[in-house]
Amino acid sequence: MPDISASVLRKGIKEVVLHPGILPYAMKHSEKEVMVRLKQLESLRLTPKAAFHNDSILQHFLLSSLDFFRVVTFFEAGTFRGDSVIWLADKVQNIKTISCESEEYFYKRTLRRLSRIRMDDRVRLINKSSPMAIKECFESGLLQEPALFWLDAHWNEYWPLTDELKEILRCCKSSILVIDDFKVPNNPQLEYDTYNGIENSLEYISPLFHSNSANVQLDFLFPNYDNSQLVIKSKFRPRGYVAIFLGLRRGLQQFETKFEDLSKNFIHKVGQDF
Ligand SMILES: C[S@@+](CC[C@H](N)C(=O)[O-])C[C@H]1O[C@@H](n2cnc3c(N)ncnc32)[C@H](O)[C@@H]1O
Repeated sequence: MPDISASVLRKGIKEVVLHPGILPYAMKHSEKEVMVRLKQLESLRLTPKAAFHNDSILQHFLLSSLDFFRVVTFFEAGTFRGDSVIWLADKVQNIKTISCESEEYFYKRTLRRLSRIRMDDRVRLINKSSPMAIKECFESGLLQEPALFWLDAHWNEYWPLTDELKEILRCCKSSILVIDDFKVPNNPQLEYDTYNGIENSLEYISPLFHSNSANVQLDFLFPNYDNSQLVIKSKFRPRGYVAIFLGLRRGLQQFETKFEDLSKNFIHKVGQDF
């Protein structure tokens, strides 16, 4: 019988706490097998199936932005399996991480997943439609600026994007909004979504910006790269998205200087002049 307590604890208390199932496993397996299993469990935990589409440039951009702009809240609209939010909460410890999901099934499933991997205190899950969740989080003070929004709620009859944007524009002065599955102008290589014949595009969202943000600086970053530049290659074409910076122009210019190589992957459009 291997000395489980010594070997498992040598590996580190964190992994044992995160994977308590390793203890009964360790009773029946060698120290070497236990270490291999712990490694597998840890890599499963840290590598959700498709965090931010496994787009390494997007991931790098998000982590750098969270840090550089001293973002205090990450808010995801549309949790699904929790892949993206779990990946992010694992990488960034010092911000509030919130995700909302309207479907009870996905909400409960992700809640169980969070509890299983001991991350339920890191991610605040909300079982509500995204515009209502955004509104209530602002009103309760849970959601504070600067915030980074990952707007990815769709698939149902009701597509909440414009209502999410209305809430955000009503409450936000300096935040970053990243809309997923977005049509990137002049880049047919990047996939985007269409709902009921309406493209997820600038044409669709720009009236909201015209009417709501008279005094707020707007900067748009569009991805300008292809699969060959990504760490994990996919047989699918990369998804389009847009990052909209509200009231952060000066900081964004400094960001682009500091992260020059990363910024080369984006086209920066100022205001509404597109
Ligand atoms: C593409 S998936 C989200 C993927 C997830 N953001 C990620 O990166 O792993 C879209 C999710 O949005 C959810 N959804 C649809 N309408 C919603 C709404 N009004 N409010 C919140 N979530 C919604 C769907 O149930 C689905 O789970």
